[in-house]
Amino acid sequence: MNVTEILQFADQLIINKTGKRLDDLQKTVITGVYEGKTYETIAEECNRSESRVRSVGRKLWQILSESLGEDVNKHNFCWTIERVINNSQFYNFGNNQINYCHNDNNESSKNTKQGIKNKLYYDLTIAPKINRFCDRTSEIDTLSKWILNQNTHLISILGLSGIGKTTLVKRFIDLHQQKFDAIVWRSLKFPQSLDLLLDDLLKHHKLDSLPTINDKLKQLFDILTNKKCLIILDDLQNIFIPSQFAGKYQPEYQDYQTLFKMITETQHQSSVILISQEQCPEMECLDEELYPIKSLELSGLDNPEILKNTGLKNKDSWLKLIKLYEGNLLYLKSISILINKNYDDQVADFLAENTLHITNQMQSHFQETFHHLSPQEQEIVLELSKFENPISREELRQSLNLSSVDFNNGLQSLQQRYLITKIKEDKILFKLSPVFQEYVRTCC
Ligand SMILES: Nc1ncnc2c1ncn2[C@@H]1O[C@H](COP(=O)(O)OP(=O)(O)O)[C@@H](O)[C@H]1O
Ligand SMILES: [Mg+2]
Repeated sequence: MNVTEILQFADQLIINKTGKRLDDLQKTVITGVYEGKTYETIAEECNRSESRVRSVGRKLWQILSESLGEDVNKHNFCWTIERVINNSQFYNFGNNQINYCHNDNNESSKNTKQGIKNKLYYDLTIAPKINRFCDRTSEIDTLSKWILNQNTHLISILGLSGIGKTTLVKRFIDLHQQKFDAIVWRSLKFPQSLDLLLDDLLKHHKLDSLPTINDKLKQLFDILTNKKCLIILDDLQNIFIPSQFAGKYQPEYQDYQTLFKMITETQHQSSVILISQEQCPEMECLDEELYPIKSLELSGLDNPEILKNTGLKNKDSWLKLIKLYEGNLLYLKSISILINKNYDDQVADFLAENTLHITNQMQSHFQETFHHLSPQEQEIVLELSKFENPISREELRQSLNLSSVDFNNGLQSLQQRYLITKIKEDKILFKLSPVFQEYVRTCC
């Protein structure tokens, strides 16, 4: 789309609204904005004061906003006009169409505005359906505050597998779906390159024949600026390298790092939620004032309601069972099935044996977890599993034959995977997740 077409279309909108054509200064401002110039440069070039140029711009965006029924400003002007002209691609995430009417008929122009406002696009095909949801009220409130009130751009939901990350995010969406113009849920369980992900996100948008990844990113950010979108990338840990320290991108997925940085550092009105068992540096924020990034680290649930409908008996003992398995729903589901089968649903009988039983399913799961660790982490885990109580960093360091660099990196990495917990008493102590510890003790 060239500047002449943009000028013609803007001219048409201004005539419809005010009865007057674009004047020379208005054309100069539009051309300058199209060319990416600042108001200051435009003012210098046309020999007018900057305040005059700003005021002309403000007035123009106001008229165009009223005309199109959506917020138009200097930053989204070109893309908005282009999108409206290519009316079949009004909504880049969706295949919805608007039929922009070029005539002056008030009624149709009203319908058009209504149409623009109502264009919503939700792609939640692979998001789970939530039938029961317990607790997590404060987590839902936190997400609402970050995403809806503070416009936090990058949010990470972190924690062990089965702790409830995916469910929490879907619940948030169920509660607040209508507050977004577009929601897209994607899983990286079978990861794909950023290029393919962008193709997928922009599949309804008319792209140049051979767009570069830069073109695609530009189009994506135009959308994120123009509309309030929410993109969810679940199971992100799969783009990281196995058997190395946590949060290192596999070479073919390294571009995601750029995307996450851009999401954080550019100005737009949308949010991306990353769901992961593993934390990477882009999820961590040292200066909250500088970067709109937040992380929510989930721990287990301790509400007996989560065992409802499992067929288990002895309700009084449920909380004890939940605590034994760290409120992790994946472990609890597995142990509930075992209690169903071997203990005739009697939770009290199972607990009376006083063992932290690791089921076959848990063994397979932890085996995968253990093999996913770097050799340095495996050493730390094996050593730490020997200690009944939490131990200090120094004590752990002394009992290992690792260099200081390997030890510190390994200890950090295990925390980034939520397999080690740090306890702050008069000293800082570390301990393994108890169920994982039991697996390591008995099976490794
Ligand atoms: N707040 C909750 N209330 C009830 N059930 C839950 C809750 N959170 C998770 N679950 C259940 O626990 C299981 C694991 O949750 P999921 O969200 O898939 O974990 P994660 O994504 O952390 O691996 C699912 O079967 C889900 O239905
Ligand atoms: Mg999940």
